[in-house]
Amino acid sequence: MTRIICAATFAALVACAMSGPVSAESAALYNQVKIDAGKALYDGECHRCHANESEDVSYGPPLENIIGRGAGTVENYDYSIALAASGIVWTEAALRAWMEDNTGFMPGTKMRHVGIEDRTVQDFILAYLRSITTRDGAAVSEKLTKD
Ligand code: HEC
Repeated sequence: MTRIICAATFAALVACAMSGPVSAESAALYNQVKIDAGKALYDGECHRCHANESEDVSYGPPLENIIGRGAGTVENYDYSIALAASGIVWTEAALRAWMEDNTGFMPGTKMRHVGIEDRTVQDFILAYLRSITTRDGAAVSEKLTKD
């Protein structure tokens, strides 16, 4: 938890320091800071159960290309019935709801509860997940960031 707070504070400080006129360059830099903070949070909160490369095996399904992916669709992964039958697509809004209260969002899932309620922390993790989503590229990310 301390790590989350530190990462969030760090990124907030950087955001404040950068709140002058926004150039394309500083917007890109800020986005990179969000991705880096998101990676640190992901490493602390998600990575022990989730590989980010699709070929890697882990306790949970890999999260590469997760944004815009149908839930429960990684071949050969043994999903719970709840997740496999949910029929949802992992939009950014769905991923926020999942991070906030996955067991409430989807009763019967076998992923243990994570309760990431802080919207900024969610933003960072989403920035990182976006950075490892390359299928369909920018079109998917652009459409789904407007939630
Ligand atoms: C203790 C292990 C564990 C941790 C920690 C964990 N997960 Fe999971 N996750 C799982 C398991 C197991 C599943 C499969 C759930 C099922 O089949 O019901 C899963 C499923 C998912 C799915 C659905 C993937 C799909 O293919 O439909 C997403 C998205 C997800 N997790 C995101 C996250 C994120 C983001 C974090 C960190 C904030 C996280 N998880 C932390 C174990 C974990």
